[in-house]
Amino acid sequence: MPLLEIQDLQVQFFTDEGIVRAVDGLSFSVEKGKTLGIVGESGCGKSMTALATMRLIPPPGKVASGKILFENQNLLDLSESDMHKIRGKKISVIFQDPMTSLNPVFTIGDQISEAIQIHKRIGKQMAKIEAIQMLEKVKIPNPVERYQAYPHQLSGGMRQRAMIAMALSCSPSLLIADEPTTALDVTVQAQILDLMKELQKEFQTSIILITHNLGIVADICEDVMVMYAGRAVEKAPSRLLFKSPKHPYTAGLLTSLPRLDETQDRRLIPIDGQPPTLREKANSCTFAPRCKLVIPQCLQSEPDLKMVEPNHEARCILSEKVEVQSQVKR
Ligand SMILES: Nc1ncnc2c1ncn2[C@@H]1O[C@H](COP(=O)(O)OP(=O)(O)OP(=O)(O)O)[C@@H](O)[C@H]1O
Ligand SMILES: [Mg+2]
Repeated sequence: MPLLEIQDLQVQFFTDEGIVRAVDGLSFSVEKGKTLGIVGESGCGKSMTALATMRLIPPPGKVASGKILFENQNLLDLSESDMHKIRGKKISVIFQDPMTSLNPVFTIGDQISEAIQIHKRIGKQMAKIEAIQMLEKVKIPNPVERYQAYPHQLSGGMRQRAMIAMALSCSPSLLIADEPTTALDVTVQAQILDLMKELQKEFQTSIILITHNLGIVADICEDVMVMYAGRAVEKAPSRLLFKSPKHPYTAGLLTSLPRLDETQDRRLIPIDGQPPTLREKANSCTFAPRCKLVIPQCLQSEPDLKMVEPNHEARCILSEKVEVQSQVKR
């Protein structure tokens, strides 16, 4: 049984211009101890999916329907105070910019030990010892000294480590990492990802890793879901998806991957055209206007997500025509 199973999730924003369907009928699951990568270009609904799972969608948005089954209970049925007990203790999040989550006026040590005290109900001294051990685990040098440091006194990579220490301090069963390394340089990025994997082994944590970098997915995610305009367009074990993508959008992302000799960490974009606005309900394939394979049938109705081979789903009526044009290289 999966640790997290999301069924037909709809996240909508109620704006003056109408309803924005930020997440539109999304279903996926995450197995215990496994890592699911979520990829897709800017605005496709990745962060909203993460926030919905924590029940933290900012107004004027809300979860309009669906189920978020975590350890077999629907989080959408819980009271705010029960949800409060799950956040940080059972499900933790790491955001791209640690400064949004770390409080600048408290030392990182105090913030980590406070989280431990609240969730584990242990005394201050014990919590401090555990916090220092956690700083050691995330390989922050001189943890006893660094316990006293304020967030601004640490480098970007160190702050991200402190965030991971805080997120994992209560051994959550699910860690959601929303672009945790985008702001960091490539070497530090690799170290942080290795660290997350190590800690995952130790704590048996499941991870949802949101990223623009398909190289990272190939390296550390067992499964991957590609999102486009609020929907899943392809879902598969990473190995299968990289070997034979079945949606033209995924194939485009693979083609546009930076090559080994490119040093810059490019964002995922270079498919011509723009994603659709999320206002109207789709009545044709939402990728059709940008698709090289498009045929008149693609404009008649939105294709369903269908099984194209065991464990591999794609939302395209031409899935057997999609070819890999490039291989993942890092
Ligand atoms: N306050 C808001 N009002 C209206 N629409 C919003 C609001 N916040 C988000 N959205 C909509 O939700 C969609 C999904 O946003 P989300 O932050 O999940 O994208 P993302 O995939 O995480 O993108 P990125 O890669 O840039 O982080 C956006 O395209 C936008 O249309
Ligand atoms: Mg985002």
